[in-house]
Amino acid sequence: MAKAMKVSKVPLIVDTDTAGDDTVALLFALKSPMIDLKAVTICAGNIGFDQEVENALYTVEVAGRSGEIPVYPGCRSPLLRSWKTVGHIHGEDGMGNSHFPKAKQRPEPQHAVQAIVNLANRYAGQLVIAGIAPLTNLAVACQLDPDLPKKVKQVYLMAGANQGLGNVTPAAEFNVWVDPDAAKIVFEAGFNLTMVGWEICVRHSVLDDAAWDEIARWETDLSEFFLRVNRVAHQFSKREQRLAGGTHPDALTIAGIIEPSVFTSVKDRYLTVENRSELTRGMTVVDELGVLHREANTHVVYEADGAKFKALLYELLQERW
Ligand code: RIB
Ligand code: CA
Repeated sequence: MAKAMKVSKVPLIVDTDTAGDDTVALLFALKSPMIDLKAVTICAGNIGFDQEVENALYTVEVAGRSGEIPVYPGCRSPLLRSWKTVGHIHGEDGMGNSHFPKAKQRPEPQHAVQAIVNLANRYAGQLVIAGIAPLTNLAVACQLDPDLPKKVKQVYLMAGANQGLGNVTPAAEFNVWVDPDAAKIVFEAGFNLTMVGWEICVRHSVLDDAAWDEIARWETDLSEFFLRVNRVAHQFSKREQRLAGGTHPDALTIAGIIEPSVFTSVKDRYLTVENRSELTRGMTVVDELGVLHREANTHVVYEADGAKFKALLYELLQERW
């Protein structure tokens, strides 16, 4: 009798600015049998910070994990810059204007940055971090523990755009634009780092009205939650971004951790972040031709399998895990 393959779970921290697509990414991490979610850390980004914390706590509760997964509040603003929140995209509460009640679980008293450093030391060489928010927490963690990049096994970032369009300005993707100084620190810190850019998400994480209607037919708790939380963003993407439906960049990033074959083409490139110009603030500049003769610092995702992502998302929302 062949011995059942023992698949080791990925010890993971999700760093999030919990709104819309972030909640789906959190559900992936909370429900997947491939993930051992160690912590959720909160960073300033999509909407008001305290609401982001409540959204994360509520999502943990919706996943049936209340009290099991610590949620740590982190940096309440970028290192240097002011920024704008995007309640017009996700709903003012970040949850499709659902105005859910507060979860029973409360946030941890410890700062997220300290929690990241502590977990990286406890699980040195094993810990994976998914950054689906501006990179302020990760940048400060690098200051607190300069050896962090050596201790963290891999960082996956939903961040930037590879020679691609921006979404918050013509040049920049939101997570990098909010805190370009933090992003520059993180990209250049020496992490084993994978970047899922906005252009990949536009091509492979959009759910159109047909998918939306199919999900609505399932009537599971998670499918109903998904539709409520993403209903404002779904309409925004069709109206303002000329897309067939809402994008799910954060969920795509976590799906690639759960099932690495989701990322079908990944190439090592040197990249850095524009943090001085106002016009191109937050632009991720990828050296495609190697003209800067700098060692590659990022595994850039060039292609993804959208069908595989959607299949994983459907498994999640149909509550088959
Ligand atoms: O640009 C998309 C990213 O910005 C996603 O992480 C979304 O949640 C917002 O944080
Ligand atoms: Ca996010």
